[in-house]
Amino acid sequence: MAEQVEVLNPADNSVIETLDYTSEDQINSMIDAASKAFDQWRKVDAHERSAKLQKWADLMMEHKEELARLITLEGGKTYQEALGEVDYAHGYVDWYAGEAKRIYGRTIPANTPDKDVVVRQYPVGVVGAITPWNFPAAMITRKMAPALAAGCTIVCKPAVQTPLTTIRLVELAHEAGIPKEAVQYIVASGKDAGRIFTTNQTIRKITFTGSTPVGKTLIEESGKMVKNITMELGGLAPLIVHKDADLDFAVDETIKNKFRNAGQTCICANRLYVHEDIHDEYVKKLTEKVHALKVGNGMDENVDIGPLINQKGVDKVLDHIKDAQQKGGELSRSLEEIQSLGGNFLQPVVITNMTQDMKPMREETFGPVIPIMKYSKIEEAVALANDTQFGLAAYYFTNDYRTGIYLNDELNYGVVGWNDGAPSAPHAPFGGVKESGYGREGGIEGIEPYLEKRYLSIGNLNTPE
Ligand code: SIN
Repeated sequence: MAEQVEVLNPADNSVIETLDYTSEDQINSMIDAASKAFDQWRKVDAHERSAKLQKWADLMMEHKEELARLITLEGGKTYQEALGEVDYAHGYVDWYAGEAKRIYGRTIPANTPDKDVVVRQYPVGVVGAITPWNFPAAMITRKMAPALAAGCTIVCKPAVQTPLTTIRLVELAHEAGIPKEAVQYIVASGKDAGRIFTTNQTIRKITFTGSTPVGKTLIEESGKMVKNITMELGGLAPLIVHKDADLDFAVDETIKNKFRNAGQTCICANRLYVHEDIHDEYVKKLTEKVHALKVGNGMDENVDIGPLINQKGVDKVLDHIKDAQQKGGELSRSLEEIQSLGGNFLQPVVITNMTQDMKPMREETFGPVIPIMKYSKIEEAVALANDTQFGLAAYYFTNDYRTGIYLNDELNYGVVGWNDGAPSAPHAPFGGVKESGYGREGGIEGIEPYLEKRYLSIGNLNTPE
């Protein structure tokens, strides 16, 4: 294992901090400590667990600006967006502080009068969490909060690009009274953490947000010890604009959706399908607004889009744009203009005349690109939207209720926004179908993956003498 990692600011590639990697021995000792802590934490009554989580949520709000600054420094997104992410992350801790008190069981009428069946829920055990760099606060709290609320203990591995937010969040959790060994972080590569989490017998659950190929490896490796897993994997979200949509509204929501974190989200629209009757008008309105967006350092005022995370991210986006251009896609601005700011910055672009074989229609782009393809019949849009192995998020704009219901029934996606470009919320069960993974995060569903149901059958319940 390498010894140190430099955390870089994507806005200028300067080093923000250098951290020591956690060694394999240290990680295994931390997992042992988490296991001992589990024996205590699972017995802490639900109301006390809830109160500690609530205190943690309150501390997050007290440190909102500090956390947002860290998010922008290490992740690049604009400071305004980072403030929004702290609210979003806080929402998960607040929500699961409540859910800790609602881990109900049930009794089942038995088939003989002298028996009773009681179902209770128990925490799974020690959890290993691996999270991505695009939401350094929210992706980790939506795992830590339900795990701790359920009575599990958790070892978190944030992305090496953005570990500082997690470190601060874990410190605040400790300050709130959550035992140190109940919530810990490690600094490690995804590969090392994945190997250790899947092979260490003590880790009973693995929760991962990241790419589908890595998720597949974790699923395979976790299977060897039959570990409980939650996988929140890649997306390729379609966005359909139907002929009866409110175009100005659809344009604004598309921009809100697409440029969140500079287009580096698993749920942002990767490909647009626009009805032929309104295509030209929609494209004109959209392009005007897209070209007016200001790209720059996320800490600067009035910036709409920050840098991409690193050069690798920039290269991938450029590769998608070039692939589309070579196959006949028409760019709203030149390749030179797109790259004019240099570094990890890319000016946003709309690409029309798209066909389904071009890379932006087939692979996650993770950047400020809006590729648009025309359709004439709604069934055609549905077939194009469903033509993928992914099934995380989908969007459509229509003011006709029949079209709205029809699209919801036909689109095979876990998260669907109808006239809504921003459907994520701590109270909703986020997650995908098909190769976008399984398990849900958020809402009442989000605590279930950290609980196991066990039933007790009580016999000999005859009337006592
Ligand atoms: C993601 O990009 O993976 C998550 C986005 C969200 O929670 O809204």
